[in-house]
Amino acid sequence: MAEKITVSIIKADVGGLPGHVLVPDEIQEVARKNLEEAKKRGDIIDFRVFNAGDDLELLMTHREGVDSEKIHGLAWETFEKATEKAKELKLYGAGQDLLADAFSGNVRGMGPGVAEMEFTERKAEPILAFFMDKTEPGAFNLPIFRIFADPFNTAGLIIDPTLHDGFVFEIWDIYESKRVFMRAPEEMYDILALIGGKSRFVIKRVFPKEGKLPADEPVAVISTEKLYQVAGEYVGKDDPVALVRAQSGLPAVGEVIEAFAFPHLVSGWMRGSHNGPLMPVPFRYSRCTRFDGPPRVIGAGFQLANGMLIGPVDLFDDPAFDLTRQKAMEVTDYIRRHGPFEPHRLPSEDMEYTTLPKVMEKLKRRFEEV
Ligand code: F6R
Ligand code: MG
Ligand code: MG
Repeated sequence: MAEKITVSIIKADVGGLPGHVLVPDEIQEVARKNLEEAKKRGDIIDFRVFNAGDDLELLMTHREGVDSEKIHGLAWETFEKATEKAKELKLYGAGQDLLADAFSGNVRGMGPGVAEMEFTERKAEPILAFFMDKTEPGAFNLPIFRIFADPFNTAGLIIDPTLHDGFVFEIWDIYESKRVFMRAPEEMYDILALIGGKSRFVIKRVFPKEGKLPADEPVAVISTEKLYQVAGEYVGKDDPVALVRAQSGLPAVGEVIEAFAFPHLVSGWMRGSHNGPLMPVPFRYSRCTRFDGPPRVIGAGFQLANGMLIGPVDLFDDPAFDLTRQKAMEVTDYIRRHGPFEPHRLPSEDMEYTTLPKVMEKLKRRFEEV
């Protein structure tokens, strides 16, 4: 089939049970029903509904391209219906990510997060979706870099001639709303100089270089919405999602998954104001409990069949990740004992809750010159 396929993840937190722990089945059912009707109408080819903790994720395939009003409108309508149900059940923070009163053509800037890419479906097209809760878009910087640029993660970069040239990274400065395209491995140190600052510089897409695959079709995409910037103040988390294509000239499925075997520190967690380890878990543990966390990621693996989603396979439902989880729990225990001290608590500028201005105001007169 020559016509390109688009895979879209559009996600929002429309209410949690209890607090910010997870999205209950009743809400996911509302979303499934609405997308099932859209599938019957032929608006989308296929879909799956997931939850990463308290975030409701809609994974859809269609031929409308990225930024389609029809698809974004469908997602918005689905979130509105889910919100209605969430309000009926008095879930916590019902509708918290729907920042606009009415849909206006595109969900960007209206609260939901988006990761979507349009590409030519190959003879066999493995595609992996990752959903995180209680963290920020920059949490994907480390694993995505390792997948597409680190030979200690991805053996194919060294030993597979179709990967050996490397990849192109599209990196966004989310403070300045600017982007830059950088080539790996040539510019690896410069890339790392940027993306190590993960609250500001985030990998948005990865492209292949000229070769086997079309260089203008992304092979990975990450949501980069930051809710507090959208709304001008803190209104909820910007928990990110990503899509990664694999195999035949791209990192193998196992090389993609391997990048999550190290539970690196990410910011988010309790009140969006703490560092903690990112723990890869099976779908059934996609629930943020201890100290509203720790931050979690789930992975869903599919083969595409003319836009139909074959799967999912629950990628982290494997004892091969037990040690990663064990390590994450050790780190959780260790870092939690810092209580209100940095670097568990984020530096003031990155916190989403703070009393500091009020405390400073109260103490203004009592501060003396030294
Ligand atoms: C973090 C998160 C939670 C809340 C916390 C306080 O992303 O969603 O940790 O920040 O539970 O929530 P409120 O202020 O709603 O009581
Ligand atoms: Mg929530
Ligand atoms: Mg969340």
